[in-house]
Amino acid sequence: MLSSVIRVQLLPLLLVTFAILESAVSVKHENFKTCDQSGFCKRNRAFADHVTASGSSWASPYTVLPNTVKIKNGFVTGTILKSLGDGQPSIHLPLSIHFQEPGVARITIDEAQRQKGDIELRHGSPARKERYTEVDKWVLVGQSESDPGMKGEFSQKETIVSYGPGNGYKAIIRHSPFSVDFVRDDQVQIKFNGNGMMNLEHWRPKVEKEKKGSEEAKEGEEIKEEPKEVSTGEHGEDESTWWEESFGENTDSKPKGPESVAMDITFPAYEHVYGIPGHAGPLALKETRLYNSDVFEYEMDSPMTLYGAIPLMYAHRKQSSVGVFWMNAAETWIDIEKQKQSSNPLSLGIGAKTDTKTHWISENGLIDIFVFLGPEPKDIIQQYSARTGNTQLPQEFSIGYHQCRWNYVTDEDVKDVDNKMTRHHIPYDVIWLDIEYTDGKKYFTWDEHTFPDPLGMQKQLDASQRKLVAIIDPHIKNEANYPVVEALKSQDLGIHNKDNNLYEGWCWPGSSYWIDCFNPAARKWWDSLFTYQSFKGTASNLFLWNDMNEPSVFNGPETTMPKDNLHHGNWEHRDIHNLNGLTFHNATYEAMLKRDHPAKRPFVLTRSYYSGSQRVGAMWTGDNQASWSHLQASIPMILSMNIAGFPFAGADVGGFFGNPSKELLTRWYQAGAFYPFFRGHAHIDTRRREPYLIGDPYTQIITQALRLRYQLLPAWYTAFHTASTSGYPIVRPHYYVHPSDEAGFGLDDQFYLADTGLLIKPVVTEGATTVDIYLPPSSTYYDYFTFKPYTGGGTVTIPAPLDTIPLLMQAGHIIPRKDRPRRSSGLMRWDPYTLLITLDEHGNAEGELYIDDGESFDYRDGAFIHRRFTFSAGRELRSSNFASGIDVQGSGKKAKEYAKRMSGVGVEKVIIVNAPRTWEGRGTVVVQEEGGRRRGGQRCSFSAGRRGEARIGRW
Ligand code: NOJ
Repeated sequence: MLSSVIRVQLLPLLLVTFAILESAVSVKHENFKTCDQSGFCKRNRAFADHVTASGSSWASPYTVLPNTVKIKNGFVTGTILKSLGDGQPSIHLPLSIHFQEPGVARITIDEAQRQKGDIELRHGSPARKERYTEVDKWVLVGQSESDPGMKGEFSQKETIVSYGPGNGYKAIIRHSPFSVDFVRDDQVQIKFNGNGMMNLEHWRPKVEKEKKGSEEAKEGEEIKEEPKEVSTGEHGEDESTWWEESFGENTDSKPKGPESVAMDITFPAYEHVYGIPGHAGPLALKETRLYNSDVFEYEMDSPMTLYGAIPLMYAHRKQSSVGVFWMNAAETWIDIEKQKQSSNPLSLGIGAKTDTKTHWISENGLIDIFVFLGPEPKDIIQQYSARTGNTQLPQEFSIGYHQCRWNYVTDEDVKDVDNKMTRHHIPYDVIWLDIEYTDGKKYFTWDEHTFPDPLGMQKQLDASQRKLVAIIDPHIKNEANYPVVEALKSQDLGIHNKDNNLYEGWCWPGSSYWIDCFNPAARKWWDSLFTYQSFKGTASNLFLWNDMNEPSVFNGPETTMPKDNLHHGNWEHRDIHNLNGLTFHNATYEAMLKRDHPAKRPFVLTRSYYSGSQRVGAMWTGDNQASWSHLQASIPMILSMNIAGFPFAGADVGGFFGNPSKELLTRWYQAGAFYPFFRGHAHIDTRRREPYLIGDPYTQIITQALRLRYQLLPAWYTAFHTASTSGYPIVRPHYYVHPSDEAGFGLDDQFYLADTGLLIKPVVTEGATTVDIYLPPSSTYYDYFTFKPYTGGGTVTIPAPLDTIPLLMQAGHIIPRKDRPRRSSGLMRWDPYTLLITLDEHGNAEGELYIDDGESFDYRDGAFIHRRFTFSAGRELRSSNFASGIDVQGSGKKAKEYAKRMSGVGVEKVIIVNAPRTWEGRGTVVVQEEGGRRRGGQRCSFSAGRRGEARIGRW
């Protein structure tokens, strides 16, 4: 029934260096576990198969004890009994369902015996006895208020709760067997344990098998090794992986025995599910696994696990979206099955609907699930982000272009690239240093032969307001006379092995230790390493890149840490694996926050992430390849991150492994200009590919793509601001923008830039000269460059020769931009704006612009300008304060001063697309300032072709 899932892994260092490039590269599947090789996954799938095979004769062994149910202050609490049969005592599982504002439910199920610590660990392990209860400490922000209107009705059979907007939602909690149906609009939207696959492996002592008398060895006889236990336990479970599990060289000692949790979650009549990044597959999901891993040469269209995990899933159908967030940091597998439902089994197709059935399986931890009932995709992301935090409002430079490679080899090399970019009039904001800048991979040092003058290098960059990003990884080289490792060892700040000694493994520097960011003392120490006094040679235009934080361990099982390693508080690595990258990223962010006085917004890129990582930086999709298929996959991968609340996402432009053809590189820059995080990067063994090296016409075309990004920076920054206050995606798939247009639900190769109406379809195939773009019904779009109109309601073909980016504008929008090309975003700060207006059929349009200083936190004190633009009835353009929520300019103590500072910056040009025909010829624009003062008329010309253009000076 459920197909198996594949994963791959990074090879050891030597292979990384030599086994790459150009040729068709392939992943080493055998280095990563399949579900069959991951004991808890195999057991739960076998259990699910048993349930399915039993059909209606199956009864889930989980029941709510009716006399334990309490309904109070937004909570339903009680005890679920897991019955073991055969007269054995039942297992007690505390249940809590919290009904929160505005219509969100959180179901938590624990295990009483482990909760009380009333279990024995094997092998004398010092690990914690409880199930891991601290995911929320890392992931959730603030307190979620109980829904004040929530009401519960209890009967022996079930508890029915009404909650949500107007108390219109219902949760029907059935007691025997335990299941929960979530109802909106009188329809069941989500079902928990509807198929009876819920499973929570309770603690049990290991029972050593008694040897039968005849099997006992007689004196002098050779002792026969006991055959491996393969007996089947409850429901046909294979017990052989309960107590120990081996994969490759590694044996997992599993001191806590079997402890997995699983739940079936069905979305009735929902055919499309999206979310749960990161994977290299389409936006609409297949089965998958979440186990943050350093995957060497990951393959396309694969459900295999990648570097990060966001267990947020959306189910979508016409006019309705619902979602679940499975808050568990352990290794997790998710099986997804689409099943046709039909009231009449003979009615093939007609009247039949599709259910999506999902089966979530985690190795351990709690069952802890948030339920969102929509009804729109934006409601889900907003409610999820309200809990896990909105994306950071980044420094403005970080949404410009980043020039990276492994490696810029000397400080002179960096300066040379910088000079050449300037000389070729190619804008960029940041140049990056990969691991080779260090002295022998010792982070917080410089190689003094190749980087003798890091401050001089940063000074040159600063002259063009450009920045430097340097990499800092979590593995600390184990070498004498390296103060960083000495401090880690002497203060015991690293991750421990199962025997509670410092864990030693291999990564780029060879033998290394890993900082344990779960330890507050380690985080405090980490803070101290980034001060200017400590990290010598760094200036205030240096920012950070955190890599290898899954964590990647070259000689570890599946290229990561043994699961029985121990973190601060004696939590096993198994408990927290998927959170590890987030804790390291957070620690670097916090350290950078303390570096400058007053603090500036840090910029830290991370490879590994979990829900909540969006609060502290950007991510990228890791080590992709210079191939058309990887360019193609980057779009759904980035869209998936965007709908999962982590919009500051990008992919290596040009492809990390291999050498892209000139055409591929050019197309990749054109696509990258629409990634929220826009960075060119390349492996150490690739040929140099800075844009000026490619030669014309490619260099010219790439320069145009980069300039387009910079021209639209005001729209991008406004989109980031919206994301930072609402959680809304920055780039948005079709279904998100047009949730009722079924024809577009499968689209993941074209997307919108926030609320701008800009619709992009990057060219991702070789030799293309046109692309087909699907446009929703009743809409008009205009080509961004030629203003040619296109009517919606189907697919249109638009020209896309190499020098053209397929980019349309939906009618009815006002797009802010800056038209003067500069070296970097910082140098554009005082430039005037252009407003590009596309009028709809009524002559209306609207848009917005958010600006602040782009680097400090002064915006929190009102130092920003947030304008709403409206164009009405084809004649009047208005700019007014964007008065929603906290975004009212003028309320903070720094508002006036900022407004004064910006008083010289205005709109110099307005371009109107679909201008009224009566405007043709010459005319006058009247500019009126706030408060009614008239600044007089300005003569303008309006060209034929229904496009008006006026230069109007300051606003
Ligand atoms: C792996 C990263 O994914 C890649 O981007 C980087 O260049 C190498 N590590 C070397 O640091």
